[in-house]
Amino acid sequence: MMSKIHRFNSMILPRLPPAFSTASGTAVKPKTAIVMLNMGGPETTDQVGDYLHRIMTDRDMIQLPVQSKLGPWIASRRTEEVKKKYSEIGGGSPILKWTNSQGSLLTQALDQMLPESAPHKHYVAFRYVPPFTEDAFREVESDGADRVIIFSQYPQYSCATTGSSLNAIADFYKNRTTPANVKFSLIERWASHKLLAKVFSERIKEKLDKFDEKIRDDVLILFTAHSLPLKAVSRGDTYPHEVASTVSRTMEELGGRNPHRLVWQSKVGPLPWLQPYTDDAIKLYAKQGVKHLILVPVAFVNEHIETLHELDIEYCDEVAKEAGILQIERAEAPNVHPTFIAALADVVAGHISNGPRISKQFLTRCPHCVSQRCLASKEFFKRLCGADQNVDKIGS
Ligand code: FES
Repeated sequence: MMSKIHRFNSMILPRLPPAFSTASGTAVKPKTAIVMLNMGGPETTDQVGDYLHRIMTDRDMIQLPVQSKLGPWIASRRTEEVKKKYSEIGGGSPILKWTNSQGSLLTQALDQMLPESAPHKHYVAFRYVPPFTEDAFREVESDGADRVIIFSQYPQYSCATTGSSLNAIADFYKNRTTPANVKFSLIERWASHKLLAKVFSERIKEKLDKFDEKIRDDVLILFTAHSLPLKAVSRGDTYPHEVASTVSRTMEELGGRNPHRLVWQSKVGPLPWLQPYTDDAIKLYAKQGVKHLILVPVAFVNEHIETLHELDIEYCDEVAKEAGILQIERAEAPNVHPTFIAALADVVAGHISNGPRISKQFLTRCPHCVSQRCLASKEFFKRLCGADQNVDKIGS
């Protein structure tokens, strides 16, 4: 198993030209803005305190009693420990670099595929670290694109993740007018996309090849995703079944005979979350006699602390070794795999060509949702994307 620090240092991020200047350096106005939503991660250990504070005070992400006091207290208590983890993966999260590389490659592909909506430009909108969601939208407005596609980089929708980023956009526009004559649209989920399943299956094959041929078909594939509080699951959050759909499509695509399970990682706090937990599954399977495993992070599209530290260092280097696993490999995140860039381009191109500007699935709330914030946010997006005027297709 490659050590985590080695893995971080060996990431080769492509050098890309600035997206919006000509050879002479003249700025080009984008026709289509693609705003890539994600949570983000601290680029340096100095950002860790603020990052945790923002997460712990975001009630869309996590709900605590007396959150305005307890949230900051938990954030400051955890800061040193989390800083240490970032130091152990090379000093910061690579998520911004990966997202910018993905965005540049995506827009280059779209410029070729869809000259009528070119030039396309990507914007990164993070929820908990710069560039923040509101900064991205200020930039979008000042660039003056005709069409703005809000594109979640969480393939599987959860009210705690994509929902939180969308609420942040609704907050941004609470006290300002939305730009006139701009067509907004939303891609909030793409869990079952064929090319997403294909890239995960290719990432798995890269690791299956590392096992001896005699046991290759017996290697247990553990798909692992960030867990969710059971309270959110019982409310009707669609995340668990969307993650499961990515898993089953990936296994179809893989076409192999390997056994597999979906397990959950990164639980925080004392309340019950979705199980089985990834570390428990490794230990329990070892007890059942399983000795060869692949971990597949299936709900994040680029490397981050949960892959580079939790999976690589804590589970592969420590938990699995102690449990007596003979060989464990961790599939790389999609990052800039060409199939993944093709997946992003196909999702956006399909959206531009066939709409709808906003899905009925997004406009439907969880059955147990009583949040006025969710209600207001869905109403806002309905207006923003023209669904209240029966504007459906992107081109309309
Ligand atoms: Fe899911 Fe409100 S909690 S729509």
